[in-house]
Amino acid sequence: MTLWVRLQPDAFQGPKDVRLKPDPQAMGTQGRSGRIAGPMSLTIALSKGRILDETLPLFAAAGIVPVEDPESSRKLVLPTSSGNVSLMIVRASDVPTYVQWGAADLGVAGKDVLLEHGGLGLYQPVDLGVARCRMSVATRRGYDWTGSVQRGARIRVATKYVAIAREHFAAKGMHVDLIKLYGSMELAPLSGLADAIVDLVSTGNTLKANDLVEVETIMAITARLVVNPAALKLKRDAVKPLVDALTAAAAASRAAA
Ligand code: ATP
Ligand code: PRP
Repeated sequence: MTLWVRLQPDAFQGPKDVRLKPDPQAMGTQGRSGRIAGPMSLTIALSKGRILDETLPLFAAAGIVPVEDPESSRKLVLPTSSGNVSLMIVRASDVPTYVQWGAADLGVAGKDVLLEHGGLGLYQPVDLGVARCRMSVATRRGYDWTGSVQRGARIRVATKYVAIAREHFAAKGMHVDLIKLYGSMELAPLSGLADAIVDLVSTGNTLKANDLVEVETIMAITARLVVNPAALKLKRDAVKPLVDALTAAAAASRAAA
């Protein structure tokens, strides 16, 4: 069976919107930026923090180790032990954009980020199973969420994840006022800005520390490998072994957990 049969067509759309394409004429040199240019060179967009911490062991198992520590290095493009692969360090929510436009060939992003982005122009061949958490609705302890929902009360919900929240509440037939925030969602119910939040929960410690409780779970979240469709086509000989190796590394990591 070929890789392309195993590729799950991405859940959101097809690869129609890719406008930047890798340059097949490039000669395989490493420029001043550190990014390796060449027909079979690969650039992978990753974000610092959790995604990096939990993804690097999978990349190491696939034979790709950055030559410098990405957490401490000020460089944003890092060569790796695998001569044709470089890592590009970007903000988590920017990963899909770099890959969609072909500035990176592959990337790793949370399902939350991909759903908010829309997934346009991205294949999603591998659920890496790391950065595991869930998207939930939370309120102040003591807030009557069930009663408010049943009464059809006008509920204000603060979140960074507006698309996911809109979809969730629409599917439940609920009309809520969504308030967009960029961080520290937990403050919204505490300050009276909102009745509830939609945010990521893992251990539950952040909610607990702020006297908030989870009232609904929306979905499970994990990090996904995403691939630019043009890179998939033009750099197949480099992309396929990497996707296969990461699939195997993710499976081994799941089996060991
Ligand atoms: P940005 O800077 O773009 O706003 P961010 O601050 O959300 O991104 P991180 O906190 O590093 O970036 O989160 C990156 C990804 O890790 C998230 O998109 C999500 O998929 C996952 N994640 C976030 N919080 C947790 C958590 N508590 N436990 C496990 N995974 C998490
Ligand atoms: C995420 C999320 C929660 C926290 C939940 O924040 O926004 O605040 O993790 O994790 P827990 O259930 O294990 O406490 P993060 O730590 O990524 O910080 P951020 O606000 O910078 O996104």
